[in-house]
Amino acid sequence: MPVAGSDADQIKDMKQKTIFFCKECGAQSSSWLGKCPQCGAWNSYIEEVVERNEVTKGKKTNRAKAEQINEISLSAQKRIDCCDVELNRVLGGGLVLGSLVLVGGEPGIGKSTLLLQVALKCKDKKILYVSGEESPQQIKMRAERINEYNPNCLILAEILLQNIVETIDEHSPDIVIIDSIQTIHSDTLDSSSGSISQIKECAAILQQKAKLSGIAIFIVGHITKDGTIAGPKLLEHIVDTVLQFEGDRNYDYRMLRAMKNRFGSTSELGIYQMQSFGLRQVNNPSEILLSQRDESLSGTSISATIEGTRPILIETQALVAKSNYGTGQRTSTGFDSKRLSMLLAVLEKRGGFSLLNKDVFLNIAGGIKVDDPAIDLSVVVSIISSLEDISISSRYCFSSEIGLSGELRPVVRVEQRIAEAEKLGFEKIFISKYNTNSLDKTHYNIEIISPPTIDDLLKYIF
Ligand code: TYD
Ligand code: MG
Repeated sequence: MPVAGSDADQIKDMKQKTIFFCKECGAQSSSWLGKCPQCGAWNSYIEEVVERNEVTKGKKTNRAKAEQINEISLSAQKRIDCCDVELNRVLGGGLVLGSLVLVGGEPGIGKSTLLLQVALKCKDKKILYVSGEESPQQIKMRAERINEYNPNCLILAEILLQNIVETIDEHSPDIVIIDSIQTIHSDTLDSSSGSISQIKECAAILQQKAKLSGIAIFIVGHITKDGTIAGPKLLEHIVDTVLQFEGDRNYDYRMLRAMKNRFGSTSELGIYQMQSFGLRQVNNPSEILLSQRDESLSGTSISATIEGTRPILIETQALVAKSNYGTGQRTSTGFDSKRLSMLLAVLEKRGGFSLLNKDVFLNIAGGIKVDDPAIDLSVVVSIISSLEDISISSRYCFSSEIGLSGELRPVVRVEQRIAEAEKLGFEKIFISKYNTNSLDKTHYNIEIISPPTIDDLLKYIF
């Protein structure tokens, strides 16, 4: 005869605790919602089991001690040299001890390669590379390709977080690499790997581990279809630094950007080239454009832009063609399409060019994405060059923002841009007159020209 109450207990046990999460922003709700009240996404709620295991229920993790602020030693802020100039710069001058760094990017872009290279190059550091995606043999094969050898690099193929943490405790490495956060899971939760609650829990445990032990941890995160890191907001809050690895799959150049950085600026850009022996650091980014250029072609021009603290000379290509339909289409790669529309409107209104029934295609060479407004002038010049079918001298370089009234607006750090153009052998650079006030033109061998408006500039070059 069963005891009354045990049935009720069984039923209670069978009823699992579930929570609904928004896939976009990680908001929680006890019931399903059609529209997320936090981020406004539709149909983004998914159900997940979040009941904690009996074994670990109520267990406490290590407790941190409260310290007086002036007694905190700065050693916690010390940085590790990653043996990678580009990565060091994007991180703000090296990897901070005890920090958690998320490296996001599309599949196949080179995240595993980048981090394995770090693991193999930092020979004086002890590194634990944990992979939930590849076997040790596969990682070894990749290491052979990269052709580096580091006896201090340990490889662990494991997906259970608690085992990973135990291995970390056993070997106390300087740097831990987790590839990827979507493949590991914690046994404190019943939900499967890659679910929002698992990602959140694992990242939180790793964050705590990093802070308490002073070990720097890299975690790899996959990217969702719309280009955001899976479980985006919640991971961004937990980690110290978010790095995005991006690039066009059809080109071999890759860009590493900091989207968030608690220990440095987010404006830095690291550039790599994917080669058969791994990623090569591109220390002179202007080489990207210097490779392929033909003097006689119309529609291309060169701009002196700045990414982070480095000047980069970039080629813009435009094609203006008669449209088959009433209104022309505008397509741009690597440049904001709204900004392109704005520049076309300025050309219509201030320059008197008729572009309404023309298709305009714009492309930034090398598959690079540029945010620097200094590229405006080069975009405009390329469009006119293609429209009029007159080529621009490959000895000219442009660097200015364009205002709504067609005026050339000043840009930051113009001296650096001029110096870079000069270094690469350009004869003339076109900049805004407002940039010339504090500039000593005699200082440079390159001719500095500053036409007041876009109209004056076009008269000068065409
Ligand atoms: P990978 O690091 O596996 O990408 P992710 O971890 O971001 O998914 O990089 C995979 C691509 O890089 C793959 O298509 C092959 C290419 N690759 C090279 O071209 N050269 C190399 O030396 C290596 C290791 C990879
Ligand atoms: Mg990978």
